[in-house]
Amino acid sequence: MTPITGRTRFMAILADPIHHVMTPPLINALCQGRGQDAVMVPMHVRAEALAQVVQGLRGIESFDGFIATVPHKTAMPALCDALTDEAVQVGAVNVVRRTPDGRLVGGLLDGKGFVAGLREHGIEPAGLRVYIAGAGGAGSAIAFALATAGAKALTIANRNAERARELIARLARVHPALDLALGGPDASGHGLVVNGTSLGLRPDDPLPLDASRLHPSQIVAEIIMQPPETALMAAARARGCRVHPGLPMLTSQIALMAAFMRGETAEAGGPP
Ligand SMILES: NC(=O)c1ccc[n+]([C@@H]2O[C@H](COP(=O)([O-])OP(=O)(O)OC[C@H]3O[C@@H](n4cnc5c(N)ncnc54)[C@H](OP(=O)(O)O)[C@@H]3O)[C@@H](O)[C@H]2O)c1
Repeated sequence: MTPITGRTRFMAILADPIHHVMTPPLINALCQGRGQDAVMVPMHVRAEALAQVVQGLRGIESFDGFIATVPHKTAMPALCDALTDEAVQVGAVNVVRRTPDGRLVGGLLDGKGFVAGLREHGIEPAGLRVYIAGAGGAGSAIAFALATAGAKALTIANRNAERARELIARLARVHPALDLALGGPDASGHGLVVNGTSLGLRPDDPLPLDASRLHPSQIVAEIIMQPPETALMAAARARGCRVHPGLPMLTSQIALMAAFMRGETAEAGGPP
């Protein structure tokens, strides 16, 4: 690893718990590969300390920005000075750029990362009818990104149906021509089926949808990264479906996050 010197720029990831985060080695390898004198460090920050920590980070001149993950994503918009469209639409922030004058610009790259991950594996969502289980932070970000990517129709299913209805209403305001529907557990009739819930993390979790209704013509995409093969993925494979795992959503975000924090994208308050 390149030695850390007085000239090294730094970035952080804020989470609670922190031990499981996968981003620092990926960002550090990216910076090293590009010859950039920059490093990302993990910061274990509890929810009650978030505002104080974020305020302190504004004053560090060698600080480029940070990733916010569980449980901080929905608390971050109120702590930023400006937000990207995605962050406003979903009401969450997972990446923050500190501008040279100490302002904080919040963005949300979960949805863009998911779509980029699909495309990197040869799956083009434009024109597809998509079923999404989950209307939480990740499900909402994925829904907006798929709509922007040109999906033909979105069906949203969620345990809390009111949350799904609210997401559909928000999507309809931004994408009035999109074919939107409230779904149940049957995902048939959709070319792409997405698990956007947290179901699958634990071995005793129920499936997020009725796998007996899956058809070999469908692609089933997961967002859960651990375990790498969820019960839904195994069930979808058994039904003859093509399966797309959860990890590409993160790995595809790495370059996007680094560019955002370093101000290399216009939306991050940096040069166009
Ligand atoms: N691969 C990646 O890069 C990546 C990125 C971000 C997040 N994730 C993963 O995405 C998952 C969800 O994150 P999030 O931020 O969207 O969380 P969230 O906002 O808390 O939403 C959780 C979602 O899961 C549903 N859910 C939870 N327990 C359920 C149960 N027992 N039965 C039915 N539905 C249930 C919730 O439904 P209700 O609304 O009914 O509660 C909601 O739709 C996390 O596990 C995280 O690891 C992965």
